[in-house]
Amino acid sequence: MASQSKQKMQPEKLPKRALRVLSGTKPTGANLHLGNYFGALRQFVDLQEEHDTALYFIADYHAMTTIRNAAERRRNSLAVALDYLAAGLDPERAILFRQSDVPEVCELTWMLTSVTPMGLLERAHAYKAAVDKGEDIEHGVFSYPVLMAADILLYGSHLVPVGKDQKQHIEMARDMAQRFNRIYETDVLVLPEPLILEETATVPGTDGRKMSKSYGNTISMFAAKGKVKKAVMGIVTDSTSVEDPKDVNQAVFQLWSLFAAESERETMFERARAGGLGYGDVKKDLLARLMDFFEPMRNRRAELEEKPEEVEAILRAGAVRARELAMPTLEACREAAGLGGARR
Ligand code: TRP
Repeated sequence: MASQSKQKMQPEKLPKRALRVLSGTKPTGANLHLGNYFGALRQFVDLQEEHDTALYFIADYHAMTTIRNAAERRRNSLAVALDYLAAGLDPERAILFRQSDVPEVCELTWMLTSVTPMGLLERAHAYKAAVDKGEDIEHGVFSYPVLMAADILLYGSHLVPVGKDQKQHIEMARDMAQRFNRIYETDVLVLPEPLILEETATVPGTDGRKMSKSYGNTISMFAAKGKVKKAVMGIVTDSTSVEDPKDVNQAVFQLWSLFAAESERETMFERARAGGLGYGDVKKDLLARLMDFFEPMRNRRAELEEKPEEVEAILRAGAVRARELAMPTLEACREAAGLGGARR
């Protein structure tokens, strides 16, 4: 009973540590870049310290709308696990698991599907974009937000750290939770809040626009040194000559700042504004710092890559813990909806 009443409490009534954090990542096979790290991953790592329960999962069911090859799905899923573990996700503190290892999420998806109006799903940005492109759309794309809501609600998540582009999905999850609770006269489903990952640090790409895979302006975290070097040396700068004062708002300085202490930053910016500083030198120093910063993660990733069974064991253990959190919610939903044999 105690745990049940705890579950009912909404965020504002719980101490911060007790708020349950959850986020998912689609295994797309993309190489992690600086924007992913500073924009999300590093914050996931911080959240595992700040909250008693943080769940991070690999959304392999979601990737079924795009990836059609079993080996590719497995490989990409493992790659996400490697990236996360290498970046500092600690399986002792956070629950790292594969979405499909807790297939009960599909049952909750069905329950939610049955209380979700078509109109709600028709308003989803991702669906509308697919319609606008005139794509042949599968039902999985249309109902993607329902599976995502189930991900969030199954674990009683309070906070969902995501980029701005996912905010609508969280709002839809709240909406579905409210409908389910109202229809079945229960309060089993917790209403989640988005925790929008503001770019704590602005991460410009090599061309000065926001770093993004779709712009082709990324610097990857784990690529071979030659490739990273090429990206860093290719950062676009203005054409002021060495002697002239430099504009420190340029990508090269902003990127360099990510790897420097506050005091170093001031010194560097002063030197830049004074003139006499060449971009080539800043880039070389940035490359050195970047390689140093990611070196331990790179090594850890390489080590783990040699031990896929260990990673697999971490994911399995994560799924066991995730399921423990999921089952009471699922059972309560079944009970509220009158599913399964009567238990009293
Ligand atoms: N849709 C998210 C994305 O594309 C991934 C995701 C799936 C997710 N389920 C989730 C994120 C639940 C947060 C919570 O990035």
